[in-house]
Amino acid sequence: MKEFVFTYPTKVYFGEGAAPKALKEYLGAMGKTVMLAYGGGSIKANGIYEELKAVLEEGGKEVVDFSGIMSNPTYAKVQEGAALVKDKQVDFILAAGGGSVIDCCKVISAQAKLQEDIWEMEYSSYKFPTEGIPMGAVVTASGTGAEMNAGAVITCEDKNWKGPIVGMPARFAVLDPAYTASVPRMQVLSGAFDTLSHAMETYLGNSDQDNVSDDVALAIMKNTVVNMRRLLKDINDMEARGNLMWDSAMAENGILKVGRLTDFQAHQMEHQLGAYTDCNHGQGLAVIHPAYYRHILKDAEGKFERFGKEVFGVETAQEGVEALAEFIKECGLPTKLTELKSKVEITPEILRKVADTSNIIKCGPRELGRDEIYEILMECM
Ligand code: NZQ
Ligand code: ZN
Repeated sequence: MKEFVFTYPTKVYFGEGAAPKALKEYLGAMGKTVMLAYGGGSIKANGIYEELKAVLEEGGKEVVDFSGIMSNPTYAKVQEGAALVKDKQVDFILAAGGGSVIDCCKVISAQAKLQEDIWEMEYSSYKFPTEGIPMGAVVTASGTGAEMNAGAVITCEDKNWKGPIVGMPARFAVLDPAYTASVPRMQVLSGAFDTLSHAMETYLGNSDQDNVSDDVALAIMKNTVVNMRRLLKDINDMEARGNLMWDSAMAENGILKVGRLTDFQAHQMEHQLGAYTDCNHGQGLAVIHPAYYRHILKDAEGKFERFGKEVFGVETAQEGVEALAEFIKECGLPTKLTELKSKVEITPEILRKVADTSNIIKCGPRELGRDEIYEILMECM
């Protein structure tokens, strides 16, 4: 194990009625004005908006709406939110949505307390926020685990860049599987694949032998696959949705990462693919993972063999990677870049740009060169 300091800032409320329970407990600490932040309107269609707003208003809060947070949230949207927080003197931010809404709010929280531009601060001065407007996260679509960490993934459209910005973590997170009931089937499965990816990417980072997080990561992978298969039989299986919700939080709340290094090379490629195409995150990962793993198979043979045995019940490293590819097909997730919904046509020229701007991970099974990243992406066409 490498040295680490571990502390946990987010209180989690899981299960039926978790949202009113959490809000009522926090009303006293919220101040007067609460910004209710959400995406393109799904929370209005499914009644979550009304439920949250009613508890806040009954608690005497002035509610300021901040709507229209898009999937793959942009830096411009972060700045719009931070300006609204300052203008309305917001005391508390309540983010209700998937990873996009929660990520956007974590950075708004920090930016609203800063005089300087947060991207410049983090990427030019290498300084990170230490305070923010307090916030809570109500998860309505699970998969990213964004509700239990401080990191956010934001798209800077003018820079053709999608990448991490450290924001502030939520004080509390609400995980009520019933809140995900209306999520479209493909998003449910894409989100769950993102969870699987997080556990795989962590597991493939360099760790010492018999590191407990390898065992926990494999357990999360196994559980994610089992529950995704339950959803393939019945997408409305709420017990499976609940299991996946906690898998999602567990995969990205940092517990798997303490005392070890992580890979996350597939994520780096996908994020830059997202910067150029605005594709769905989980679906982009589904396309990239098998091609990437075929390239690094020999560099982590022991780990892939164990992965294959424990997650898919096959014998060899290669069978493990091919079982993953088959599972992606079984889920009906995209297997080619051309199947992704993209704002531009995905061409070799675009993929060259993605390859030339992706972060390169140094602590995965092998450090890739840019030409190899391009090759991997081209194999996904
Ligand atoms: O915008 P609305 O109308 O809410 O619709 C959303 C959106 O279209 C819809 N949705 C959410 N809850 C719903 C619902 N539809 C019906 N009923 C509900 N209850 O789902 C769609 C996708 O939402 P989004 O938040 O974009 O998806 P996801 O949770 O997959 O988040 C993706 C973002 O998270 C980042 C990704 O890069 C991407 O930007 N990630 C964040 C991470 C983190 N902070 O730890 C880690 C991940 O690796 C990831 O990079
Ligand atoms: Zn992810």
